[in-house]
Amino acid sequence: MAGGDVKGRGTWATGIGFILAAAGSAVGLGNIWRFPYITAENGGGAFVLIYLGCIVLVGLPIMIAEIMIGRSTQKSTVSAFRELSGKGSPWISLGWIGVLCGFLILSYYAVVAGWALHYVWRSISGAFTGQSADQLQAAFEQLSTDGGQSILGMMIFMAITMALVLGGVEKGIERWARILMPVLLLMLVGLLLHSLTLSGFGDAFRFVFGFHADDLTGAGVLEALGHSFFTLSLGMGAMLTYGSYLHRKADIVGNSVAIALLDTGIALLACLVLFPITFTAGIETAQGPGLVFISLPIAFAKMAGGGILATVFFALLSFAALTSTISMLEVAVSYFIDEHGWKRRKATLVSGAAITLIGIPSALGRNWFDLMADFTSNILLPVGGLGTALFIAWKVGDRLRRDEFIAGSRFATFYGLWLGVLRFFVPIAVGLVFLKAIGINIF
Ligand code: TRP
Repeated sequence: MAGGDVKGRGTWATGIGFILAAAGSAVGLGNIWRFPYITAENGGGAFVLIYLGCIVLVGLPIMIAEIMIGRSTQKSTVSAFRELSGKGSPWISLGWIGVLCGFLILSYYAVVAGWALHYVWRSISGAFTGQSADQLQAAFEQLSTDGGQSILGMMIFMAITMALVLGGVEKGIERWARILMPVLLLMLVGLLLHSLTLSGFGDAFRFVFGFHADDLTGAGVLEALGHSFFTLSLGMGAMLTYGSYLHRKADIVGNSVAIALLDTGIALLACLVLFPITFTAGIETAQGPGLVFISLPIAFAKMAGGGILATVFFALLSFAALTSTISMLEVAVSYFIDEHGWKRRKATLVSGAAITLIGIPSALGRNWFDLMADFTSNILLPVGGLGTALFIAWKVGDRLRRDEFIAGSRFATFYGLWLGVLRFFVPIAVGLVFLKAIGINIF
């Protein structure tokens, strides 16, 4: 039992397989769609720096804690909290929040993923070429308000996600991560090489890495912190679940560092791909969620070879989304397998169908979509992440925590530092985001 495979519930075949699957979960719409537009909205450089700080000081410590809970129990989220805290303990609700959150996030995330897929189709069929800015803007508005098209896109995306999750941990999730992630990186590097040739690259680079302290706002700091959660897939047991398939001897800290580096690197690369394109075309960059779906097609329509670039870009976006939707569905699936003894097949079909149904209102209208997005990112994820941090920092025994941290790790000397950060800094920082989210502004 090389992987410490408990009752045949699955295990990663290789170390790199785990890193790619977890990085696949982390790298998603958050990196390529959301991060560039919130960076643009918050004025670039200073926001990026704060974001990097949040990844290192909050995201990474929580990721280590989450993976630890999964790896030590070899169980999915509800069962894992029960095993560590005892039957009937209130901490188990963290597991329930995770499963609920997985259902809710996936239900609207799959709608956006469906749009990405739709744009692959549009770029292949040449629907962007020769279109004016107004036409392209109208085309996106039409798609995002046309319930029929959105539902169809979402259903196709959910069907693909379910098909891959059906394959199980090793033959489904791991295998596809090992195919999709390298392809994703290749496409990103290809697009970057192209962006390097554009006249706007220098300005874009200075925008992302130039530090202008006066651009910093309190709201920007909190947005950076909230995003560091979402982008690393923290707070709902996704990393916990992937950790539960991890080899007993694997280095949790080293793996977490690799995952966070990949995730952050890809988010920054996405900016260096996108901004040169919009800067060179002279298009307004700070226009929110429309950056990828409106500004970029406008730029592509003006560019030589724009059709091919658009196809590659939206395929990249779809691949990134797919490895993330897989991880969200797996949280629900592993819950039904561990807690109710269901077969993977039944668990995947039932939870996938339920999520698709919950997604329909998100595909039909902005209000429900925004409600789901805000409720999960602003309330459920911070509660889940903070709870996980407190649980590992204050509730579990030092023995378990230390053993999990140092097992096979090159980073064993950082144990005390990590624990200190998790005990004091993380609760304060996450507490602030949470208060802000429920309308209490400290800044
Ligand atoms: N991290 C992914 C992104 O950036 C989204 C995601 C996948 C996620 N699994 C998650 C977010 C679990 C929160 C929790 O797009």
